[in-house]
Parts: sequence; C-alpha cells; structure tokens
Amino acid sequence: MAPTIDTVLPPLVLGTATFNHQYNHNPENLGADAIIKKAFELGIHAFDTSPYYGPSEIILGQALANSGVKRDTYFLTTKCGRIAAEEFNYTPAWVRKSIDRSLERLKTDYLDLVFAHDVEFVTYEDVLAAVTTLRELRDQGKIRYVGISGYPVETLAEYAERILEDTKEPLDSVMSYANYTLQSTKLGDVVERFVKAGVKVVQNASPLGMGLLRQQGVPVGAMGDFHPAPEGLRQACKDAAEAVQEKGERLEKVALRWTIEDWGRNGAVVGVQDGDKKRGVSVAGCSSEKELEELIEVWKEVMEGKTEVLQELRNLGDLVIEKMGKTWKDYEWASPGEGYVYKKPEEI
Ligand SMILES: NC(=O)c1ccc[n+]([C@@H]2O[C@H](COP(=O)([O-])OP(=O)(O)OC[C@H]3O[C@@H](n4cnc5c(N)ncnc54)[C@H](OP(=O)(O)O)[C@@H]3O)[C@@H](O)[C@H]2O)c1
Repeated sequence: MAPTIDTVLPPLVLGTATFNHQYNHNPENLGADAIIKKAFELGIHAFDTSPYYGPSEIILGQALANSGVKRDTYFLTTKCGRIAAEEFNYTPAWVRKSIDRSLERLKTDYLDLVFAHDVEFVTYEDVLAAVTTLRELRDQGKIRYVGISGYPVETLAEYAERILEDTKEPLDSVMSYANYTLQSTKLGDVVERFVKAGVKVVQNASPLGMGLLRQQGVPVGAMGDFHPAPEGLRQACKDAAEAVQEKGERLEKVALRWTIEDWGRNGAVVGVQDGDKKRGVSVAGCSSEKELEELIEVWKEVMEGKTEVLQELRNLGDLVIEKMGKTWKDYEWASPGEGYVYKKPEEI
C-alpha cells in the first residue's frame, strides 16, 4: 500500500505557471535551470506544473534533468484536461494521451500527483470520468495520487463530496488558488467539508492571488493582461501596497508571510506532516532566483515563529485587509467568466 499523500508531500511547493507566456514575455529565457537548482539548494522538493501552462512542463522537465537530482527525492505534480482558456477535454482517451505526454516532457516514468485541471469549467460527469481514468493509470503505476483543482471553493468542495459518494474513495488532494490570501479567505469556510469528504491534502496555491498582491501590480506577459481581478480590486491592492510601503515593507512580502503562516495553521487539518506537526501546504510561483530567495526568507521567518516578526506581519496584514474594505475582502471573480459556453469535446 502506498503511503498517504500527507506523509510524502512537502509543505512548500514551487509552482511553475510562471514558466509560461501568461506571466512572462520569454519563459524560455527565465533561467529555469538556475531557478530549479537554487530551489533544491534552498530545500524545495516539490514542483507543480500543467500542460495548460504553455512550455512549462518542457522547461521544468529539462531543468529537473539538468539538475542531476534523483527523481525519487522530489514530488512532481501536473494536471490534465485543460487545453486552452476555453478548451477542455476530460475524456478517458485524452487523459491517457495527456499523461503519456507529461511523462515524456517531464522525463520521468511516474507522476506523483495529477489534478483534473479547473473543474468548474466542465460537468461533474466529466470530472468523475477523468478521476476514474487517472485512478486506472495510478493502478498501472504511472501516477501515485489523484486530485482536482479549480477556483470556486464551493464547487471544489461539492465535487470532492460527490466523488467520495459515487466512488467510495476520497480524492487524495484538492488544489485551490487565490482563495486563502490577504484578499480572500473563502477556502477557510469549506475546510470542514473537505475533511468530511476524506480529502487528505488541500493545497493553497497563489498566495499572492496570481501576482495581484504585490507592489508592482498584476503580471503581464506575452499573452497580455490575463488577470481576472476587476479595476476596483486592483485599485484596492494598489492602495494597500502604498500603505505598506509607507511602513517600510513591500506588499508581496507581507502577503506571502501572512498566507504561509495563516494557512500553515488553519489549513493544518488538511495539511501534511511536517516534523511532529501538521501544516497547511502553500504553492507559490516565482520567475527568478531573487523571488525564490525572498520566498524562502519569508518561509524561514514563519517557521522560526519569532513573536516580533509575527506581530509585525499581523499588523501589516490587518492594514492590507482594511484597504480591501467590505467590497473586495472575500470578493470572488466569476470562473468561468461571463460568456463562457462549455463545448463537450469529441471523443478522440
Ligand atoms: N487552476 C490551478 O490549478 C492553479 C491556478 C493558479 C495557480 N496554480 C499553481 O500554483 C502556483 C502558484 O500560483 P501563482 O504563480 O499564481 O502564485 P503567486 O505567488 O500568487 O503569484 C505569482 C506571481 O507573483 C509574482 N511574484 C512572486 N514572488 C514575488 C516577489 N517576491 N516579488 C514580486 N513578485 C513576486 C511573480 O512574479 P513575476 O512577475 O516575476 O512572474 C508572479 O507574477 C502556480 O505556479 C501553479 O503551479 C494552479
């Protein structure tokens, strides 16, 4: 029997959606080899990607191979089913094809975890079909753990419950994003539902709300401004950034610290074993060694748990929450966005 995922997944995962034209103009020239090498040096042993993230799987696969680090010492996650912004295919044939392609791109003969990607864009029946296929691939040894990812936390919780009810087997993991940050803590509202649905680990991705909670505003890469936050929310974040700057800090550092600390504690019940404690998992994205170093600096500060550091971050965190005001605190943008029409794919 495989160990449960909470005993093998590390509490900090490096996301590589940034190795894509959505976040960057030239992902091939980010210096991924150096970023991944540095990640290992700094103690990160878990990586997340997706075929939806353009060249990310290829760049990450090459960088992991170039690092020379042994495959069984790191945890590798990818996804399947999302092909383009409005194109999805959760059919068994596509899922199998996608997994074989991911294995090839990531230069490995097994994937630690695969998520059905952005489940709110398809039907529950599609999700059930994809999860069933992923579990078959797990039984063949290609995958170790199976989960779902997406944005609206109610949908994630509902699908986790229905998967348990229909298959009598819980999901190993759920990935939520931008929903446990200084802007929104909606993920916290459904934690108990995940526990009841037997989900072992809920991963909290995008601690900066996909780059929203940072000094310079949302990232814009070669694909233009993809961020779904409306103007008012962007302005609230800008105001928060200015207020934090007046206190001598940067919004990204305050936001990272706050989420890592708060979810580490409040997400522990659906977290991973970290020494003798359980800790909620954070999945953060970086585009440079400098950002990675900053992430680890923040991680260490939180792990050391120095009272003055934690108090300072509480104070600055409160300031940011105040700037969100009633309108933007826990605001959830529409996903799928307005006008989206689900087109069921042809069987391939
Ligand atoms: N649907 C899903 O399943 C889903 C959705 C979202 C995320 N995820 C996963 O979660 C991972 C993390 O999400 P994310 O990439 O959106 O994370 P994030 O940490 O919320 O945002 C990343 C963005 O913040 C910027 N950033 C990071 N550290 C910074 C720093 N120290 N200073 C200034 N800017 C900084 C990055 O900068 P640059 O401008 O330099 O790139 C990037 O634009 C993804 O990579 C992906 O693996 C999954």
